[in-house]
Parts: sequence; C-alpha cells; structure tokens
Amino acid sequence: MKILVTGGLGFTGSHTVVELLQQGFEVIIADNLSNSSLDVLTGIERITNKKPLFEQIDIREKQSVEELFQKHNTISGIIHFAASKAVAESVENPLLYYENNINSLVYLLQQMQKKKDSFFIFSSSCTVYGQAEKMPIIEDAPVQTAFSPYGNTKQIGEEIISDVAKISEINAVLLRYFNPIGAHPSAEIGELPLGIPQNLVPFITQTAMGLRSELLVFGNDYPTPDGTCVRDYIHVVDLAKAHVIALQRLISKQNSEKVEVFNIGTGKGSSVLEVIQAFEEVSGQKLTYKIVGRRDGDITEAYADTTKANTVLGWKAQYSLKEALDSAWKWEQKIRGKAL
Ligand code: WQD
Repeated sequence: MKILVTGGLGFTGSHTVVELLQQGFEVIIADNLSNSSLDVLTGIERITNKKPLFEQIDIREKQSVEELFQKHNTISGIIHFAASKAVAESVENPLLYYENNINSLVYLLQQMQKKKDSFFIFSSSCTVYGQAEKMPIIEDAPVQTAFSPYGNTKQIGEEIISDVAKISEINAVLLRYFNPIGAHPSAEIGELPLGIPQNLVPFITQTAMGLRSELLVFGNDYPTPDGTCVRDYIHVVDLAKAHVIALQRLISKQNSEKVEVFNIGTGKGSSVLEVIQAFEEVSGQKLTYKIVGRRDGDITEAYADTTKANTVLGWKAQYSLKEALDSAWKWEQKIRGKAL
C-alpha cells in the first residue's frame, strides 16, 4: 500500500513515517525542506533500516503536485502534514498561511478525488476549538472563531475535506492534535525548530542546554491553579501511532462516516510551571525562568477528552509527560553533541 506523506521530514511527519515503515507500508515523502533537513531522512533510515522514496517538491505549486501523481500513480492514501504552523507568524503574515495551507490541500484533493476509494488523514489541531467552554474537550465541542489565521486554515481545511468527501470516494480522518512534544526514543529524530523556538518544550531544552539565557513564562495570572496556562502535552510517537491506526481503520473500512474526527491528546492537562518542574526532575537541571506578561492569542487551558479516540479509534497515549520530556532532553543533548 503506497502512502504519500506530505511534510514527512517534519516533526510529526518524520515520526509517522517511521511508524508506517515499521508497519510495512510503502512510503513516499514529499517535502520542500523549508522547515526540515535531509538529515531527518537519514535518521528515519537508521531507525527502520528502510529507505522511503523522497520527492523534494513544493506542494504549493499545482503543477508539481500533478507531476508527482503522474509519476506515482498508485498512491492509495495521503497523510497530510505539510503546512505552516507558527501561530504568531500567521498573524503577521496571513496570506503566507492561506496560500501554503489551503492551496496545497486543494491540489492534493484534486488528485485524490480522481481515485477510487482513497484515504486522507489530515493534521488538524485543537486550535479549532479556540478557548473551549468545557474541559476536557470533546470532539462535538463547538468550533469557534479561530484565534489566528493558522487556526483558521485548520478549520477551513476540515470543511474543504468534508465537502470533497461528500462528492468523491475519499474517506478521511481529521486528527485534532493537542501539544506534540518529545522525540523518538532512539534520539535519531526529533524536533528541529529553526531559529528561536515558538513552543514551550524546545525552548525549555535549549535553555537547559545553555543556548537560551532564560525561559520567559508568558503570564501567571490566568484562572488556573498556579496561574499559568494548561495544555495537553502528548508524546510525538504516541501521536504518530494514531495516524497509522487511523489509516488502517480507513483501509479496513471500519470508519462509520466518510469523515471522522478524533482528539489526539493524553487527556491530562499540565500547566507551564508543572512542565518546568517535571523537566527539572527528569533532567536534574534547574531551569532559569522569569514570569513575564501574557502572550497574545494564548488560551487559558486546553486538554482532550480522549474517550472517542480510545474507544472508537482504539488508540491511547502510552507515554507520560516526564517520559516525553526525557526524550526531548536526550534529543537536545544528541543534536548538540553532548553525551547522552
Ligand atoms: C504552550 C504554553 C505558552 C513558550 C501549539 C502550537 C499549535 C498547536 C497547539 C498543533 C502556552 C507557554 C510557550 C515560551 C511560555 N499545535 N510558553 N514560554 O501555544 O499551546 O500551541 O500547540 O497544531 O500549532 O503552536 O503551544 O508550546 O507555544 O505554548 O510560557 O517560551 O507554554 O504561553 O501557555 P500552544 P506553545
């Protein structure tokens, strides 16, 4: 079964390619290397002893997508990761996000709708819920007006897929990620944020590594137990496995609807200060941090109700927050050439 993984050299994409290869799928990676490197392909090969096909293409170019599908005309399914995903950047440069995240999705679906019985797994996000009223968040929670163009592209993406599935043979699963963190236990692949990390965990590990002088905690005046924001931090390998299980569900026609939605999280919320404390326990390193003002666009809390993913999809997160932080720390040390 030939599966196209767009953004397959990215953070979640690369971990999913590893799981797909280990489950015997034939994988084609399409990536434009704008936010990754060919070293990731080497890491994938080291872990799996398999060499997935790699096509360096920019799926924002319609012709490139058409040529890709002419060359690989037996693609049965797509796991679509390739997208821009920095919330703050999307506010400053919305058209970059609408062009990248929407156009590429349309071009991929144009190819898939020609096929009989094709499968589409979409990398969506808990950002579609905005600040949900009730915790934990269920899939039927209302999709609220997006807090950012990034979040809006995920909402629009879900709607586009639903519309196309209605008039084609495409079956789809939308996976709404919570906060992916960590790295493969082998430390052969992990998160490679270019420049100053936007997200909490890579900023923590870079601070512990001495690359950043201190971590800034964006606000401790939220209505939460310790005043800092609460998120559902999920190990990227757990998240990767959810994609393979979702794909297998579609292939074996177990899906009850043409488009199914699942929240992929641990079901547990952790505050920023709790993550810092867990990291200090795992790494044995004291973290230098300072409480500063809130970051625009941040919601107070978000953590998943995983009942549907656990009972319908048959997937459950296995790693704890500490295990995820430990893998992130080991990866940080590895890429900075330190002894593990
Ligand atoms: C987490 C918490 C910050 C950095 C991300 C992605 C989004 C989506 C969900 C996939 C917040 C605080 C952070 C720092 C801090 N993923 N923080 N200091 O904002 O929940 O969203 O995950 O779709 O695409 O952006 O994650 O890691 O940026 O922030 O205090 O230096 O950590 O305020 O409360 P976020 P994050």
